[in-house]
Amino acid sequence: MSTFAVISDVHANLEALDAVLADVARRGIVSVYCLGDVLGYGPNPCECLDRALDWHLTVLGNHDMAAMFDPDGFGASAERAIFWHRARLESADEPRAARERRWNFLAERPRSHRAGDFLFVHGSPRNPLNEYLFPEDVYNQRKMARVGDLMERYCFCGHTHVPGAFVQTGDDAGAWEFFAPTEVHDFWRFDGRKTIINVGSVGQPRDQDWRACYVTVEGWDVNWHRVPYDVEATAAKIYAVPDLDNFLGDRLREGR
Ligand SMILES: [Fe+2]
Repeated sequence: MSTFAVISDVHANLEALDAVLADVARRGIVSVYCLGDVLGYGPNPCECLDRALDWHLTVLGNHDMAAMFDPDGFGASAERAIFWHRARLESADEPRAARERRWNFLAERPRSHRAGDFLFVHGSPRNPLNEYLFPEDVYNQRKMARVGDLMERYCFCGHTHVPGAFVQTGDDAGAWEFFAPTEVHDFWRFDGRKTIINVGSVGQPRDQDWRACYVTVEGWDVNWHRVPYDVEATAAKIYAVPDLDNFLGDRLREGR
């Protein structure tokens, strides 16, 4: 596989997405893999889905799933947002061909994808759609042992919106460590140990850094990138939609 970009959790944030896609293009990279949650929370679901049609891969995220079926385990503001997205996708203001194209695209999304040594999921190898792998899970040895058993070697995930690398560090299957990008100079090299790379979130980072996050992969090398975008423009759009809680705009400024 040549050089490619892995993005996740766009969450209908068009300004963040376009800033990331411009950054990807500037690097001469044409292959984009997306780990799901194109939808949810943000003001531009249709436009973000239209961008996704061009990507090499998009797996299904739990918010994308919730737009098609009923949300499961969502908080009140996430649920209202996804119902508003569904209404946008069904709106008669949108041309019929565009509506059908977007729904068909969503319906065809795989839950996971394997390419060479790499597994691509939204959540985790054990539960690709819904399981969260948080940094503190490295202290849950049973969980990490089970998750590690279900992957060959290398995995990319999103879902928590917290970027970093989980690596199996010992002979004991449950012994894992987590490294935030800031601890490793935004760089990771796959070295044969089982490793899960969380690529962070494009449209709603939650690691106290408001800038859009994604990774590029070249051979065994992974680099995390942070891309500034017009966060005020996105927040203003969110404030203008009654079905999107103002908190969803506020949090973007602080990356939380
Ligand atoms: Fe998400």
